[in-house]
Amino acid sequence: MRLVRDVLEQAQKNGIAIGHFNISDLVLLKAVFDAARELNLPIVVGASQEERNFMGVRQIATLVQSLREDFDFSIFVNADHTHSLPKAVEGARAGFDAIVFDASALPFEENVARTKEAVEALKAINPLILVEGELGDIGTGSQIHDKAPDLLKGLTNPEEAKQFVDSTGIDILAPAVGNMHGMLKSMVRGEKKKHLDIARIAQIKSATQVLLTLHGGSGTDDEDLRKAIAAGINIVHVKTELRVAWRHGLEGALAERPAEIVPYKILPFAVESVKRVVLSRLNLFGGR
Ligand code: G3H
Ligand code: ZN
Repeated sequence: MRLVRDVLEQAQKNGIAIGHFNISDLVLLKAVFDAARELNLPIVVGASQEERNFMGVRQIATLVQSLREDFDFSIFVNADHTHSLPKAVEGARAGFDAIVFDASALPFEENVARTKEAVEALKAINPLILVEGELGDIGTGSQIHDKAPDLLKGLTNPEEAKQFVDSTGIDILAPAVGNMHGMLKSMVRGEKKKHLDIARIAQIKSATQVLLTLHGGSGTDDEDLRKAIAAGINIVHVKTELRVAWRHGLEGALAERPAEIVPYKILPFAVESVKRVVLSRLNLFGGR
């Protein structure tokens, strides 16, 4: 049986990170899976509460499991940014391999209490499930934002991170290290990049010794990503870049074939457009 924990630990030994790509339709799933197979690199597919609502919780888990089994390939499914225990439990019962329990908007003590409760409930359903907790402020959604939020006050403190990991029993920590969800317009145009606090990542890793996830990967400087992985990041989440590519691919196909009504003749353009982004990100995360 392929386990996400084994894959993450092996990747850590190899000094590489696993790509986590969010999906909300079959175009995105196909693009992500095709890219991972082409490079023969393991991947995690993520779906937030809203993405799960759109595709169906059990349906996403079943699709990913079927790819894993039919192709004997290391593809896993993560219930991303889950804000309530019932939603987390629903994900665990549906067969998700990992759950991001996100109570980061709450004060520290409450975040600890809610996350600890989630870890216990989820491990009781599936002892092999990985639970990720979040500490710090990494901004709002995977959208194109007009201006950058002020995230400096919400950066994760390494001592607090250790306390959070020890008190909750999480398997994975998502810290705030200069990362933010979504992209600015200037990032979509490629004029500006996100930069990371590499020293803070290294301090958090040495204090906690747990697996670390970098959220908000879209628009991040390539060199910063390489250094972040070397400093202890094990998983990198990418969503907005895929959404932009999805839309561009679709628009291009519709413009090129204005009379076409057959979905499987239009959608491959969107698949190719997203796949190009995933290939480039996976190559970087995989140290190639
Ligand atoms: O959980 C999702 C990610 O953190 C995505 O962030 O849209 O900035 O790539 P992103
Ligand atoms: Zn995220």
